[in-house]
Amino acid sequence: MHIVSMLSMPDYRLKRLQERPLYILCPVMNPESLPNIRPMSEADLDAVLLIEQSSFPVPWKREHFQHEIASPHSFPYIAEYDGRIAGYVCLMSLFEEAQILDIAVAVDQRGRGIGRHLMEKAFEVAREKDAEFMALEVRESGLAAIGLYEALGFKRTGIRANYYEATENAILMEKNIKETT
Ligand SMILES: CC(C)(COP(=O)(O)OP(=O)(O)OC[C@H]1O[C@@H](n2cnc3c(N)ncnc32)[C@H](O)[C@@H]1OP(=O)(O)O)[C@@H](O)C(=O)NCCC(=O)NCCS
Repeated sequence: MHIVSMLSMPDYRLKRLQERPLYILCPVMNPESLPNIRPMSEADLDAVLLIEQSSFPVPWKREHFQHEIASPHSFPYIAEYDGRIAGYVCLMSLFEEAQILDIAVAVDQRGRGIGRHLMEKAFEVAREKDAEFMALEVRESGLAAIGLYEALGFKRTGIRANYYEATENAILMEKNIKETT
């Protein structure tokens, strides 16, 4: 990694570098080790629930994921990396609107581009379903998620006060997905 790119690096990434051994410093995935993204199935749910429980203060239950797998308007996807389930995204798409209902990456697999790959799959599927924009809500404290969405071109459209556990605000975000850039 070049010194110049380290100088322009955001603080969270520098901190990550300081905490990691040298051999995994390169944040770019080599093409042979890109995550494999595929539809979620019932057999994935034990692994999905472990990630969900370590990612959210109020995690979804098995029934929520079962509902997403069964619903004709929902498109849940898994990312496999290094032979195991590393993350997932639950997309809903109905007419012109798509929504990200849930996304998480295993704590030890974050910062490798897996979240970005999952979101790109969600854009691809939503466009196939003729969605024109994608909406989501995110906790105000979810700085990694907000960083991911802003990096992908989502804009803040409002706030839902005390939405989470009646104490934390939700930030509403949207992106026009008709343009592919
Ligand atoms: C949000 C989450 C899915 C991101 O997954 P990830 O695989 O670590 O993200 P990526 O490595 O693909 O990062 C893509 C971009 O997101 C942004 N990002 C990722 N982690 C970030 C952080 N800790 N702080 C700020 N921005 C961050 C950056 O712009 C990053 O691009 P860069 O690496 O080129 O700087 C992951 O942190 C997570 O599971 N969080 C807990 C669950 C959650 O909050 N889900 C969202 C619910 S709304």
